[in-house]
Amino acid sequence: MAKTVHGFSKFTKLEKVNWLVSAFFNDDVKVKQILMQYWNSNPLLQDLHDDFIENTISNYYLPYGIAPNFVINGKEYAIPMTIEESSVVAAASLVAKFWSTRGGFKAEVISTTKIGQIHFMYEGDEVELQNYVASKKDDFFRVTDEITKNMRKRGGGILDIELRNKTSELKNYYQLHVTFETVDSMGANFINSCLEVIAKEFEKEDIQIVMCILSNYVPDCLVRAEVSCKVDDLYAENSEILAHKFVQAIQIANAEPHRAVTHNKGIMNGVDAVVIATGNDFRAIEAGAHAYASRSGKYKSLTNATLENGIFKFWIEIPLALGTVGGLTSLHPLSKLSLKLLGNPSAKELMEIIAVAGLAQNFAALRALTTTGIQKGHMKMHLTNIIKQLGASEEEKSFLINYFENKTVTHNAVVDAYNKLVEDK
Ligand code: MEV
Repeated sequence: MAKTVHGFSKFTKLEKVNWLVSAFFNDDVKVKQILMQYWNSNPLLQDLHDDFIENTISNYYLPYGIAPNFVINGKEYAIPMTIEESSVVAAASLVAKFWSTRGGFKAEVISTTKIGQIHFMYEGDEVELQNYVASKKDDFFRVTDEITKNMRKRGGGILDIELRNKTSELKNYYQLHVTFETVDSMGANFINSCLEVIAKEFEKEDIQIVMCILSNYVPDCLVRAEVSCKVDDLYAENSEILAHKFVQAIQIANAEPHRAVTHNKGIMNGVDAVVIATGNDFRAIEAGAHAYASRSGKYKSLTNATLENGIFKFWIEIPLALGTVGGLTSLHPLSKLSLKLLGNPSAKELMEIIAVAGLAQNFAALRALTTTGIQKGHMKMHLTNIIKQLGASEEEKSFLINYFENKTVTHNAVVDAYNKLVEDK
């Protein structure tokens, strides 16, 4: 059977499944069963999910967990996290509890400006171009009036439109760099719609528009989160030495991009999990965060720490373009529930919560890495996953957990121990 198809998007869902199973899985009924076993029994809910994208054939579950006991700016939160990595929610929960008895997290939004760009080519005189842009500025606001009306009512809209000469980077390349305030929405559709209308008004014979699109690099949509405590309160013993190692771990990430990437990946474990749970766009957040980490020309840590006058201070600064209205946030029942759980926050409050989730994750990673090593915690979760795969009973499970308390966990070692346990019975 051919592995290419015409008109696939017009097929019913069942036809799509049948075609796929036939073309790629040799009509294996088990494949069809797996795909269909993830269909929701509530047809309305399933329809909702089907329509999020094109050619939906099933649902792909990820665990939805809760990290309780976060205190942020004096307010208590249980933070929803959607993630497959076994140790992330456990780490967040431990760290939340730890800092809840040390004053909690402090977070603050520094700025909320979003960016869109009209990229164009122009070969003529620059002063003429500047004059043309200046003469059209009022028109740009006028033609977007209808689109920005509601946003302006909510306190947002277009902030500024600026001509930027990029010809030193690319011959004849200029842009209209447009800044936006989008309040509680992420604003992607709003920004792109405004840009396309402005571009139509702007275009003329000697101005060749190449494209209009928002930028996911938003260094001025920035949030800072922080924790601090007496160095002595940080560890049960050897606090001074261990706190020093913790700070060195960040200095290493700032000095060495290979380490910085892994360091920031750990931060994004926390960030993405909440971004996904609240129906936000994790690809946009990832791209923006890593670009921000490279803003000095070298890829560095998103977190920093100091030890001064016996006080340990640890903070993150991260750009986060988030929404709490519109998009998936209000469509996906679990995103809606996540936002409700967080007290229906504004986008600004959600920026604070998510920055805290990233900081907490980095704290857990660095604390483990500079003391016991990361594998201890990871392997505990890994062990329970392997035990589950083996189909062990509750009794066998508790035996194996005990057995591996002081032994190295590897897949083979667990399988061997399990087989021996079964044989010995
Ligand atoms: C694993 O997902 C994340 C860590 O590698 C982060 C780090 O090394 O800082 C543990």
